[in-house]
Amino acid sequence: MKGIIVFYSYSGNTGKTASLLAESLKDQGDIQLCELKSLDESGSFFRQAARAFGRARSVLPEMDFNLGPYDVICMGTPVWAFGPAPAMNTYLDRCSGLEGKTVVLFTTYGSGTGNGRCLDYMQNILTGKGAKAFKRFSIPQVKVNDREYALSTIKQALNLGSRG
Ligand SMILES: Cc1cc2nc3c(=O)[nH]c(=O)nc-3n(C[C@H](O)[C@H](O)[C@H](O)COP(=O)(O)O)c2cc1C
Repeated sequence: MKGIIVFYSYSGNTGKTASLLAESLKDQGDIQLCELKSLDESGSFFRQAARAFGRARSVLPEMDFNLGPYDVICMGTPVWAFGPAPAMNTYLDRCSGLEGKTVVLFTTYGSGTGNGRCLDYMQNILTGKGAKAFKRFSIPQVKVNDREYALSTIKQALNLGSRG
């Protein structure tokens, strides 16, 4: 099995979660971590929030958007203004090769406001691209460094197909 975990992380929480997800999946085969790097993200919280609220897209470096070769596909983002970060919006627009695939969606969040909406938004776009099933999980930022909590949340989502 070949897997990929595509994620964006501005301050590290989603990145840590992506690493724990990779660890949880390592018995499934070759799992690759793919961190999205925005070339135009603002350093200002208010600008970030405004852009995310407007569902802005970020400029990403040249990369492969074809997910066709992967059996396990995971995508993670912090919740920004009730939706994905702009870098993930760009990736969602451009990715391909999802027909018939199961996708693991994950988020990290602060208060949790808009978390479900963010996951639904991603799921709707990927459903439109032919993805067939979803597993979802979310880790609150206060729990990101609680390894046992995060690993058990991930395990439950992967085994039971929890909707997060
Ligand atoms: C611009 C911005 C907007 C945010 N909006 C939300 C939000 O709508 N709901 C929420 O629960 N958390 C929100 N947060 C908190 C982040 O989702 C949370 O800190 C997340 O773990 C950050 O992940 P990262 O360290 O991978 O960047 C926001 C954070 C930023 C910077």
